[in-house]
Amino acid sequence: MGTKFRRNKFKGKSLTVINDLSKEERLYLFRKARELKSAMNNGDSKVIDSFRINNQNVGLYEVFLEDSTRTRESFKNAAKFHNIKVSSLNTDSSSFNKGESYSDTFNTLAGYDNNLFIIRSKLEGVCRWLEHSAAEYTTRNNLKFTPSFINAGDGKHEHPTQELLDEFTFLEDNNWETESIHIALVGDLFHGRTVHSKADGLTTFRQVSVDLIAPEELALPEDYIGRMEGNGFAVREFSSIDEYLKQKNIADKWYFTRLQLERMGDRVLQKQHELRKAITFSEEFLDFLKPGTCFYHPLPRNKIHPVIPAFLDSTQLNGWERQSANGMIVRIILLGMFSGHIGNDFTQKLSGNTESDNEQFIEFVPLTVSAGGKGRSNKEKHYSEGVRPIADGIVIDHICKGESSGEIRQHMTQIVSLLDLHGKGGEWVSTSKQSRDSLKGIIFRPGHDGLSISDMKRLAAVSPGSTINIIRKGAVQKKYRLHLPPKIYNLRGLSCSNSACISHPDHHELVPACFNRTAKGLLACEYCGKSHTFKEIWTQGGK
Ligand code: CP
Repeated sequence: MGTKFRRNKFKGKSLTVINDLSKEERLYLFRKARELKSAMNNGDSKVIDSFRINNQNVGLYEVFLEDSTRTRESFKNAAKFHNIKVSSLNTDSSSFNKGESYSDTFNTLAGYDNNLFIIRSKLEGVCRWLEHSAAEYTTRNNLKFTPSFINAGDGKHEHPTQELLDEFTFLEDNNWETESIHIALVGDLFHGRTVHSKADGLTTFRQVSVDLIAPEELALPEDYIGRMEGNGFAVREFSSIDEYLKQKNIADKWYFTRLQLERMGDRVLQKQHELRKAITFSEEFLDFLKPGTCFYHPLPRNKIHPVIPAFLDSTQLNGWERQSANGMIVRIILLGMFSGHIGNDFTQKLSGNTESDNEQFIEFVPLTVSAGGKGRSNKEKHYSEGVRPIADGIVIDHICKGESSGEIRQHMTQIVSLLDLHGKGGEWVSTSKQSRDSLKGIIFRPGHDGLSISDMKRLAAVSPGSTINIIRKGAVQKKYRLHLPPKIYNLRGLSCSNSACISHPDHHELVPACFNRTAKGLLACEYCGKSHTFKEIWTQGGK
C-alpha cells in the first residue's frame, strides 16, 4: 500500500488578525511551542532539531516600516534557528520612497523566491491586501508557492504574533488550563494593538473576565468592547488603577501597555502627565494584589516613565521577561507551520470564512391575491407620482425608514447618483402607513424598465430595508425586498472611513474597498476591521 499524501494545512497561510487562526489552531501551535520549550530547557537536541526547517530554499523577508526590537529580532532569531534564507528590506532607502505601491514591492520580493513575509507598517490591513494581491501575482507568474504575510503590527489595528506569545505565557501560568482567565488590561487601550488582538485572542479561554483600566482619552474603542462582549467576555471599565483597587474583585493577571505618545494628537499630549499617573503602578498598590498575581507587558517600557517601575523586576510579579523570551519560541513554531514543516499532525478543520457571499439578499415578495383569485390586492396599487398614478416604471420604497427628513433626502440623492437614476420622476419623503410619526423615502421613476441584478445588489448595499416595485399597466407586477448583503465589494463609490486603512483612497494603493456584515448588522472593513453603518461606506455621491 502506498503512503497516503496529506497536505500541510498551514502552508502558505497568512496572519493579519488573530482570528485568522482558530482556537484549535492556536492550541495546536501552543502545544508545539510547549514541546520545543521543554526540549530546549532539557537540551534535547534530537527533538529540537526535529523542529528545524533546514532548507535554504525557504526565504523569509522582514520589512519594518515602524521601529521594533522584539518582534523583528525574535523573528530573525527564529529564522536563524530554522536555517532558512533571511533578508531585510532597508525601508529607509527602498523604492517605497519613490512612490512604489505595497503590492508591487511585495510581488517583486516574492518573485525572488521568498515565501514568508514579516511586515510592520503604520497602514492597517496591509497583510490582508497583500494576501489577495499576491494570489493573483502567483497565478500570473506561475509561482510554485503561495507567500505567507505575517502582520508584525499594523498601526493601531492588531499585533497577532504578540497575541500568540501573550496567550502562550498566560497558559503557561495557568498550568495549561483553558477553563478561565481574569485579566486586567491597563494603559493605552485606545492605540494598543496588542490589546486590540485580545478581543478575539482571549477566546482561547472558555470563561473570560476582562477589566479595562484606562482614562477616557485612552479607553478601548467601542468596536473592541463590542467584540469582547459578543465573544461572551464579562467586561468592566475603570478610569485608573486607583479606582480599580477600591473594589474587591481584582484580577490575578495584569497586562500593561505603554502610552503611545507617537500616535497621539496635541490635545491628548498636553494631558500626558495626568494620563500616565492613572495607569502607572506604584509601591502603595502592592498590598491590594492577590497572592500569585503576575504582571505582563508587550514592551518596550519607557525608561523615564515606566508603567511597571523597575523595582518590580526582581519580584514574583515579573512575567514580562519570560513573556518576551517566549516570543522567539512561538515565532519558531509559526514559521514552521506557515512554511509547511510543522502541522502535518494537525487534524482539525482549518479556519476560514465559510459563509457564502451569495446569500439571498434580494427577496422576491409574492403579491397578495384578492379573494376569489381575481387579480392582485389593491394594497399594491397605490403608487402615484403626485396626483398622477404611475402606469409603468419603478418605485423604490421604504428608504431609510424612521430617519429624519434631511437624512432621507440626502440618502435618496446618493441612491440616484449611484444607480444613475437621473431623469423623469421624483423623490419624496412620506409618512409610513404603519406609523404616522415615522418617515420614509420614495423614489419614483415612470417609464423606467426595471433594475438589473447588479443594480439591485448595489441598492441592497446602499439602502437595505427598501423595496423595489415594478409597475406595469398601473399595478405592481413584481416586488422585491432588499437586505444587507453579507459582503459588499466591487462597487463604485465604496470607501473605508479609516484614514489609516490600506484601502483608504488617500494612500493611492488602489485597494478595492470591501466590507463584511457583522453579527450586529454593521459592515466591517475587510482590511482594517473598522465597523461602519451601511451609510458610512459610501463616499458622497459615489464618486
Ligand atoms: N512587543 C513589541 O512589539 O515590541 P517591539 O516594538 O520592540 O517589536
